[in-house]
Amino acid sequence: SQRNLGNGHNQESALQLFVNAKKKINDIFRNIGDYVKESDNFVQDLGTSVDCTSLITEESANVVKGFREKITGITEVLARDHMKVVFFGRTSNGKSTVINAMLRDKILPSGIGHTTHCFIQVEGSDSKEAFLLTDDTDKPKSITDIKQLASALSSVRLSENSLIRILWPKDRCRLLREDVVLLDSPGIDVTPDLDSWIDNFCLDADVFVLVANAESTLMQTEKKFFHKVSSRLSCPNIFILQNRWDVSEMEEDIDQVKQQHLEGNTNFLSNELKVTDKKSAKDRVFFVSAREALATRVNSDKGLATPDRVLLPGFQARLFEFANFEKEFEQCISHSAVQTKFEQHTKRAKEINSSLRKVMEEAYTKSLTQQDEQIQVRREKSSRLQQLDRQLDTLTSDMKVKIKTMVEDVERKVSVALND
Ligand code: GTP
Ligand code: MG
Repeated sequence: SQRNLGNGHNQESALQLFVNAKKKINDIFRNIGDYVKESDNFVQDLGTSVDCTSLITEESANVVKGFREKITGITEVLARDHMKVVFFGRTSNGKSTVINAMLRDKILPSGIGHTTHCFIQVEGSDSKEAFLLTDDTDKPKSITDIKQLASALSSVRLSENSLIRILWPKDRCRLLREDVVLLDSPGIDVTPDLDSWIDNFCLDADVFVLVANAESTLMQTEKKFFHKVSSRLSCPNIFILQNRWDVSEMEEDIDQVKQQHLEGNTNFLSNELKVTDKKSAKDRVFFVSAREALATRVNSDKGLATPDRVLLPGFQARLFEFANFEKEFEQCISHSAVQTKFEQHTKRAKEINSSLRKVMEEAYTKSLTQQDEQIQVRREKSSRLQQLDRQLDTLTSDMKVKIKTMVEDVERKVSVALND
């Protein structure tokens, strides 16, 4: 799928790395699945035919049967695999707005009266309509528009530890089409139960985005959360968005403030969390306005110009920064997801392949030995027959001589008797 950059050039998105790898690994596993199935049938047949029972042990036959189930399991997991990004930050920093800007649509309710109370996951669906799925029921609720979604969300008062899934039509959004799942969270300052958040929602995350407030420096709650994350996950990928930069950029001494934020954030990522070196940490911090990004995108997708009053001076640089963030983010998430999601499966597939090969080779070698033994037996039998043949030969020639002598003897005796 091509991405329109808005400047007339189309460029393949970095997310395609994951999308293509997923297609490829799914094909490979389908092939392995067919091969394992064929091998299993073959091995089971061997087990039931009397002549060949000894070629395969029951243990090996069960191993092959086990592979069949294993491959089916992995194929199911692979088909569901996606890239997952979670957004954290203090309440009202603009988490839901950032997600909407990335989706180029006002999907998540945001702003006053629309505080996010629980985890909300936006994922792509092949259906033409949008649906809502909650923890308490398997029944999807249909979403007709954003107002209805907002009221549906505020009517289902779930605990902050529960999850609402929004299944949004893939054809309405490129990110969802390209297998990205976005998870919004309640304000990090509102709930104390950060450990269960991490266990329930973050262990399979490929990227974390901290939505920070440009008006204040990182707070202890934000830092504490990411310390916990990096103690549970080895080297998590973290981006920091200094949001609401449209408001801050109006202030005096803004360059100095920006430098302070940059210094504080890169220190946090490199020296405190040690998830990246200081130089690359700079590529993980962006000064953006999600509000402006969302407004311009929603308007431009409708072919409309964004009214001047919506945009503050210097907005272009902030829009550019937001697009830069997305570019880095897409590269990071697709590379990381290919590695974390597919590496294990690839290893497992190789193990299964080589074990299967061993079982087959064992049966083959055994069948060769059996064949050799049979040839040997046949050879022994035939050499014994030859010997018998020879014996018979000598026997008959002996007999001939004996009979001849006997006849001669009798003749002699008869002629002697006659003469007498
Ligand atoms: P909770 O769900 O309550 O934790 O908040 P949130 O982090 O999801 O924030 P949300 O997206 O709801 O934004 C809060 C308010 O800030 C909304 O009124 C947004 O329009 C506004 N807002 C978000 N991003 C920006 C921004 O970059 N600049 C400005 N000026 N306002 C923003
Ligand atoms: Mg929110």
